[in-house]
Amino acid sequence: MTRKDGLALLALALALGVGAPASAQPGNADKGKEIYDRRCTWCHGAEGDGGGASKDFLNPPPRDFTSGNYKIKTSWFEEMAPADEDVFRMIRDGMPGTSMPGWGDILGEQDMWDLVAYVKSFAGFDAPPAKMVDFGTQVQSSAESIEQGRKLFEDGDRCVECHGKSGKGSLSKRLKGDAGERTWPRNLTKAWTYRGSAEPKDIFTRIATGIAGTEMPSFADPKSSKKLSIEEMWHVANYVASLAKTGKPVDPGNTVIRASRLDGALPATVDDERWGGFAPTTFYMVPQIIGKERYFLPSNDTITVRAAYNDEAIALLLEWDDRTKSMPGDAAAEKIADAPIAEDAVAVQLPVVIPGEMEKPYFGMGDAARPVNIWHWKSGPAGGTETVGLLSSRGFKEIEKRDPAAVGLVAKSAYADGTWRVLMVRPLATQEGGNDIQFVQSKFIPVAFAAWDGSNNSEKGSRHTMTTWYWLLLEPAAGARPMIAALLTALLVGAGLVWWARSAARGRSTAS
Ligand code: HEC
Ligand code: HEC
Repeated sequence: MTRKDGLALLALALALGVGAPASAQPGNADKGKEIYDRRCTWCHGAEGDGGGASKDFLNPPPRDFTSGNYKIKTSWFEEMAPADEDVFRMIRDGMPGTSMPGWGDILGEQDMWDLVAYVKSFAGFDAPPAKMVDFGTQVQSSAESIEQGRKLFEDGDRCVECHGKSGKGSLSKRLKGDAGERTWPRNLTKAWTYRGSAEPKDIFTRIATGIAGTEMPSFADPKSSKKLSIEEMWHVANYVASLAKTGKPVDPGNTVIRASRLDGALPATVDDERWGGFAPTTFYMVPQIIGKERYFLPSNDTITVRAAYNDEAIALLLEWDDRTKSMPGDAAAEKIADAPIAEDAVAVQLPVVIPGEMEKPYFGMGDAARPVNIWHWKSGPAGGTETVGLLSSRGFKEIEKRDPAAVGLVAKSAYADGTWRVLMVRPLATQEGGNDIQFVQSKFIPVAFAAWDGSNNSEKGSRHTMTTWYWLLLEPAAGARPMIAALLTALLVGAGLVWWARSAARGRSTAS
């Protein structure tokens, strides 16, 4: 496996890893340097300035230790220096949602304390911080505390200014890191992207100290007009912890989108109440690195899909969090985008011919023998209209644009509070049988997704995030007996998954 593949898998494999607190042991910086030079320079650079070979491929970039900025620390907001335990914890557990791996399975305890001593020396930190965060008395979570926290979160746009009312980071202004790089606020509904953890105590600490090197300020700072008391910070922490539970996490065991069979009409809008009754399936999206012009700096990370069908047509509801509604020509949107803004977009990839058991077309837009259909929705410019495109593709070089109306493909969307929802509907069968997938019941149909955030690095063309192949299954009407073949395939899918999980785990250890 190449290093990049390893990294992509690693990014996938990084889940919530919250370990027990550690008590500091003296570290030997000279020994730490030996380990650092072997394990850490590739990202953090030999000089500790974040200038490693991989720096242009990582978002967020590897930390520049000479800056003295530590994001996940328990020292008082006026103290630059982190506690040794803070640095140890990040080295041991890694930083979820970033490429910073956890080293707890690979390195011994003492190795990690030695690394702490060496890493801190880049900023000349030689004494422990003089003052730590004051936790007062923890307010346990309750409905009342969460409600008070919500009010404080929204009051005067205290947190809403950056994290949006929904907490998804649908922001109203463009944010920068200390080094001038564009940064995104955390999507607080996604517990698996918290660098610290989504436990109230960790969240309290971030609110009290802020996040060094970013625009996330301290709310314990008496100079802040938005300062909070200790008790208030606990309420906000309890509220944020409740938001963290609302994200749609990926269940790696669930690789099949089960389309429900309806007798009557299909939902005609994204808001149709019936969508709530159809099982959602959520997948990770990773940056596109297989085709020409590889892409490394994504901002979207998951997509959730629901499906339903009737005698005539199939409807897919795609839902993904995107902090920005990117409409070229919209002044407010253009101000937040970091580079020329592009349209937000999403695409569904399906094989033209449903293959036999476990066979899939070449992943990158099909191949000569096994073409794919791509349904490509785009948000449209400000004041314009959304569009849906239909492509038939036999690999990256042989892409034919077709008329979606001719096959009855339609799409409708809505954007609210940091989430896009796009509905795509197509008849089960089309006139041009040889060029289009003909949907049938009870077969495992390979399906893959891609998404573009037009406010992030002008994502368009091959710069996008995507899933690998998953499966779409048009389930027979309730009560119909499942077919033996479908059951067998499900077993095979399960076996494939175990294999995938194993190689992902191996990727995680070889990427070191
Ligand atoms: C594959 C790239 C990669 C490797 C290898 C790597 N890091 Fe990191 N590291 C990162 C990134 C990226 C960040 C910044 C994450 C962020 O800003 O959210 C980071 C951040 C950190 C931080 C800052 C913690 C904080 O609270 O802000 C420490 C400490 C750290 N790394 C130590 C190490 C050590 C020690 C090693 C080697 C044993 C190492 N890293 C190897 C990518 C890497
Ligand atoms: C001026 C913008 C801004 C404001 C205001 C702001 N934040 Fe943040 N917040 C950020 C940014 C940016 C990040 C991501 C920092 C990074 O790059 O790691 C963040 C990250 C976080 C995290 C993630 C911690 C982790 O472990 O990953 C939490 C929790 C959080 N903010 C809570 C809050 C709360 C609660 C408030 C209000 C009391 C608030 N923020 C106000 C910008 C802001």
